[in-house]
Amino acid sequence: MPNIVIVGAQWGDEGKGKVVDLLTDKVQVVARYNGGHNAGHTILVGQERFVLHLIPSGILHPGILCVMGNGMVIDPWALEKEIAELRARGVTIGDNLVVSDRAHLILPHHRALEAMTEEMRGDRKIGTTLRGIGPAYEDKAGRRGVRASDLLRPADLPERLAEARRHYELICRGAGRSPDLDWDRLATDLTGFGERLRPRIADASLVLQREMAHGYSVLFEGAQATLLDMDHGTYPYVTSSSAAAGGALTGLGVPPSRIDGVIGIAKAYTTRVGAGPLPSEIGGALEQDIRDRGHEYGASTGRPRRCGWFDAVVVRYSIRVNGFDSVALTKLDVLDHLAEIKVCVAYRCQGETIREMPADLAVLEACEPVYETLPGWSESTGGVRDFGRLPAAARGYVDRLAELVGGEIGIVSTGPERDDTIVRPQSAVGSWFA
Ligand code: GDP
Ligand code: IMO
Ligand code: MG
Repeated sequence: MPNIVIVGAQWGDEGKGKVVDLLTDKVQVVARYNGGHNAGHTILVGQERFVLHLIPSGILHPGILCVMGNGMVIDPWALEKEIAELRARGVTIGDNLVVSDRAHLILPHHRALEAMTEEMRGDRKIGTTLRGIGPAYEDKAGRRGVRASDLLRPADLPERLAEARRHYELICRGAGRSPDLDWDRLATDLTGFGERLRPRIADASLVLQREMAHGYSVLFEGAQATLLDMDHGTYPYVTSSSAAAGGALTGLGVPPSRIDGVIGIAKAYTTRVGAGPLPSEIGGALEQDIRDRGHEYGASTGRPRRCGWFDAVVVRYSIRVNGFDSVALTKLDVLDHLAEIKVCVAYRCQGETIREMPADLAVLEACEPVYETLPGWSESTGGVRDFGRLPAAARGYVDRLAELVGGEIGIVSTGPERDDTIVRPQSAVGSWFA
């Protein structure tokens, strides 16, 4: 298979983990390019449910090389915990897991800073996962971050931490809080991580270049999603990384010429965790019904996900920003019981019809969705593996979405398991699969 990027097309939790797991059979390497343990990628293997936060979703397949890119921010405590938990469940983690030497670390002061800033935002809080993601990327951009490579030079750690400490204490003093972090202990802890992680810390870009030179294929696994991307999302209600397809290049040190295709993952409806605009939010009992049927509770934080109808403005925008060759439409089965299904085709704002995502959050917040109503199918699609076997109205729904977003829907997912999937042979993704 060619080298393919997997990107969330909405606000996350679209089922990226499931699709990566499905396609991992066709590749030799899976590489994560952004985010940290704010992500929760669920994979169902028979009765077993795995939720991966930091480690690429390919890890469940023996013989697959998994790479964590420089675009990620890694909490070493969380990484060790995830490795231990996976090992306890029989997953092999040895030299099949590489951590980029250029990846930045999430440290305890990042979590403390995030708790402080979220609290200070009051009504305007982002509703982050409180994992320290934002402050870690801030330290990276502020050139006071600590990277995985620094763990390999323990004698210099106190000096590496000094800038971050100065900045942290400045903010604490400004906020009238007393900084109470034990930095000596932190340096000691990090030295321990360095000893244990040393064998897997490497130049990820070089590792990938060598793999690709051998003719091996790479699946680039995005976390979060386009509308949470720091540049292209609903700023400031976004995460702090480059979640869109461009992040695969900068987040792994891979040139654009090595990317052969991009698959966008979109739910058959829309969800969002945390604050920020969600124009097609359903509300009321019907939203709760969809939340329950779709088990829409965060894989990382357990928070209820807000649910909306499929928003074609969002996915069309995602196609433009990422250049999806194919869209994987997931969770179609969750809509099985509905008599009719709405799709947001445009927004109405101050008497005008808008068809493109506005940059201005005030405009987006004032937008009313324009809906088209499609017939439901009132029949189970759970586990259907052949497009022709879907009820006519379900096929009609998928075809209409493809038309509205202006792109092909090459995969339709009809259940959480690997096999509950339709791969359409005539699509781009079908040709890569062949
Ligand atoms: P990710 O963050 O994009 O990997 O998605 P999550 O794992 O956070 O959330 C997707 C949830 O939907 C998981 O619980 C999956 O097991 C589940 N899932 C994925 N595809 C389907 C599907 O087609 N149907 C149903 N019913 N569940 C699905
Ligand atoms: P996966 O990879 C859904 C959301 C948070 C919050 C915003 C910023 O599983 O799709 P952060 O902690 O990143 O600073 O929070 O982003 N968020 C996600 N929402 N899925 C995710 O990951 C998310 N990762 C972050 O809820 O609104
Ligand atoms: Mg998730």
